[in-house]
Amino acid sequence: MGLVPTMGYLHAGHASLVARAAAECDTVLTTVFVNPLQFAAGEDLATYPRDPEGDALTVEAAGGTMMFLPSDVEMYPAGRDQVFTTVAVSELSARWEGATRPEHFAGVCTVVAKLFNLVGECRAYFGEKDFQQLAIIDRMVSDLSFPVDVVGCPIVREPDGLAMSSRNVRLSSDERAVAPVLYRALQAGAAAIRSGTADAAAAHQIMMKEVASEPSVSVDYLEVVNAATLEPVSKVSGPVRLIGAVTLGAVRLLDNLPTHPLETQ
Ligand code: PAJ
Repeated sequence: MGLVPTMGYLHAGHASLVARAAAECDTVLTTVFVNPLQFAAGEDLATYPRDPEGDALTVEAAGGTMMFLPSDVEMYPAGRDQVFTTVAVSELSARWEGATRPEHFAGVCTVVAKLFNLVGECRAYFGEKDFQQLAIIDRMVSDLSFPVDVVGCPIVREPDGLAMSSRNVRLSSDERAVAPVLYRALQAGAAAIRSGTADAAAAHQIMMKEVASEPSVSVDYLEVVNAATLEPVSKVSGPVRLIGAVTLGAVRLLDNLPTHPLETQ
């Protein structure tokens, strides 16, 4: 059994998870649920893009065999404010996305734990696009002994490098033109590390300079981190992950890239 949890409005990034699951599993269940528990008050729960018919076509074309599109009441019968049991993965959830969205990952883990309990033994496919989420779910599975193999899948990008996201439809055409600057910044940081920059602060400056070329973009974070612990690295001596989040108008863009110094290639 392959499980692909999503919030819908599926694009080629989601489809890549379904296709990978279809290649590796007999049955592939894609879930579509805009999980209220992972949105804080004032976030975009009410306006999150939805297209269940389009999603069904995308899933079918990618080789998915089943879909589960529960209602809020099916998932949270007593209401979202009456969920008394939640799952929180401490440490990994505090930084980065967790710094601006303190309840977010507990909401993600709680709904994913419910899906794991409903489905049982399975392989569950998640994108590296949400790198922190993937690390947290991996840790939850190991800490709580879920009978689940977590499979991380590479980021699918637009031809100009922008990581695909359901929220990209909110970018105006001007913002869309500027958006690939985040990926360019990560690439510039990765290139510096590969060519011998061991000082993470120097790589950080290179990434910041690239984003500064677009004054309409504000940086939330752009960091060099240990891929397992998500802790910032000061001296790069092995494989690392460059992670970034920027804001462009009303849209927050997330992206990340693995890299390593020359000698560890
Ligand atoms: P959602 O944002 O819909 O993403 C569903 C899955 O698709 C996640 O594992 C995400 O990392 C992956 N994904 C999104 N864009 C991708 C891209 N460009 N390339 C590869 N994979 C991509 O993440 C969630 O939903 C929710 O938090 C969820 C885990 C479903 C819990 O509610």
